Amino acid sequence: MAEYSVSPTGEQFPLPGPQEAAAEMKRLRALVKSARARGQEIVVVMGVGFVGAVMAAIVADTVHKKGKDKGKSNKFVIGCQRPSARSYWKIPLLRRGESPVKAEDPEVDPMIARTVLEKKTLTATFNPDCLALADCVVVDVQCDYLKRDLGNMRSGEADMAALEATMRTIGEKIQPQCLVLIETTVAPGTTEFVAWPILKKAFAERGIKSVPLLSHSFERVMPGRDYVASIRDFWRVCAGCNQAARKRVEKFLREVLNTEAFPLTVMDRPIESETCKIVENSYRATILAFLHEWSLFAERNGVDLIKVIQAIKMRPTHNNMIFPGPGIGGYCLPKDGGLGYWSYKHILGFEDGDSVFKLSTAAIDINDTRGLHAATLVRDALRNLGRYIAGAKVLICGVSYRQDVGDTRYSGSELVVRRLTEMGAEMHMHDPYVERWYELELQDTYPAPGQSWARFFRNQQGLKNARIEKDLAAALKKAEAVILAVPHSAYRDLDPDWVVAAAGGPLAVIDCFGILDDAKIRRYFELGCEVKALGRGHIQRIKKEVRAR
Ligand SMILES: NC(=O)c1ccc[n+]([C@@H]2O[C@H](COP(=O)([O-])OP(=O)(O)OC[C@H]3O[C@@H](n4cnc5c(N)ncnc54)[C@H](O)[C@@H]3O)[C@@H](O)[C@H]2O)c1
Repeated sequence: MAEYSVSPTGEQFPLPGPQEAAAEMKRLRALVKSARARGQEIVVVMGVGFVGAVMAAIVADTVHKKGKDKGKSNKFVIGCQRPSARSYWKIPLLRRGESPVKAEDPEVDPMIARTVLEKKTLTATFNPDCLALADCVVVDVQCDYLKRDLGNMRSGEADMAALEATMRTIGEKIQPQCLVLIETTVAPGTTEFVAWPILKKAFAERGIKSVPLLSHSFERVMPGRDYVASIRDFWRVCAGCNQAARKRVEKFLREVLNTEAFPLTVMDRPIESETCKIVENSYRATILAFLHEWSLFAERNGVDLIKVIQAIKMRPTHNNMIFPGPGIGGYCLPKDGGLGYWSYKHILGFEDGDSVFKLSTAAIDINDTRGLHAATLVRDALRNLGRYIAGAKVLICGVSYRQDVGDTRYSGSELVVRRLTEMGAEMHMHDPYVERWYELELQDTYPAPGQSWARFFRNQQGLKNARIEKDLAAALKKAEAVILAVPHSAYRDLDPDWVVAAAGGPLAVIDCFGILDDAKIRRYFELGCEVKALGRGHIQRIKKEVRAR
């Protein structure tokens, strides 16, 4: 019986069988032949997920920057993806000129359509034999950090299986002079001490005498309206395993990215480029976690941390402070510090990781559990209204991990929903950017079997039926509590009178992100509501003031 891969919109694609590999290779050879005749370099992008699909289109959109061919396309790109039931659908979609990733950036869809259908510089395949045709291979497969416990990242481990498998395949198939560029965020040391030996071994088995040309340059892509610019028009760091690889990667990145406006930093060794990515994300995760303790301080001592941060940010030296919300989320910040901690022991061979890594590890644990505190505020607010969590209709507004994007990976809202569900609340969800919440709907298999956050809570089965509501007024009807979990623009100006009317009476309002100004907080109290907020202890003062009237 044919096996299918199903796209997020429900379209079914039969998985290709081994008999289709030869015809596919014939198609690719013909495309590559005519690309070479046009003087184009052949680039294979391994893994066409969130990063790889857009990177592939950016490379395929590249033109000669100067000389007689100025303005002409200079790269032909093949996006390569395993034909697994989970991911194969991305290939036929890309071949049709459709983006496999849903992005708020209006540049993504036209760029993919343009490169596939007009410029004809981008195609996609399931056949890794295409690697033999490449001048350059860009690796964009995932490298996850699997956590065993909630709030204890130390017991987790790096999952390098996809990366190691990809490196083995690359070593078996590429031409000796092909440049390999790892863009995946990896545990420091991976490029030189894991990937390079895999390539060298494969070359030795094939009788190839030359040293594989391997390099590293991590992605800083940010989901949202500037998705493409965050890859193409952004500062990059790179390094090569040897001099030849370094020269090649520098040349490649200067050709495909806007390095004139966003200068490239070339490091001596890949471990420095890899460490750069882990440190910059651990730094971000740590300052966010650090604000959690001050957020609790503020809640208990009449201080509005939002105003404190705004006051501090007036100092230019401190202007990148951000309020942590109900958790950090996104694919990178919750895991990258883990890759550093893990590599210190398992790749680099040191035993004292627990005494060296105190802050980066604690930061991840704090960020991973901040949503639990948001849930206690919902409980307390309901109690102050004389109601109970069990059986209460609670609406969470915003389920993505940051404002004005639809990316739900590891969002703080997921933890809040799971905790409140465990406590018996009847959860409803609203988000203008998210159509389906796969972390809930597909929790038995997504992100992988046994890896859903559902495993840390009880009573989670019903969440598989969770659906995102789109009509806010309808979603609010009869709600006993509303959680403003993400500062999407649609939630910033909600009128308290409208919210209470839509709910049909006073309700608990929980602000997780400094969304409400003091006038709105005051108005909610005047309307008989209870208001609680992460990091905003001054709310008690406003409440007393209103009640004293
Ligand atoms: N998404 C982001 O916002 C972001 C930002 C910066 C850096 N990164 C880093 O970029 C890397 C990729 O992330 P992503 O978000 O694109 O992940 P993703 O899971 O969306 O994509 C990875 C793709 O690789 C494919 N793949 C896995 N094994 C393969 C193999 N052997 N051969 C071919 N394809 C294979 C998967 O099926 C998937 O389509 C990660 O290291 C991530 O940390 C991601």
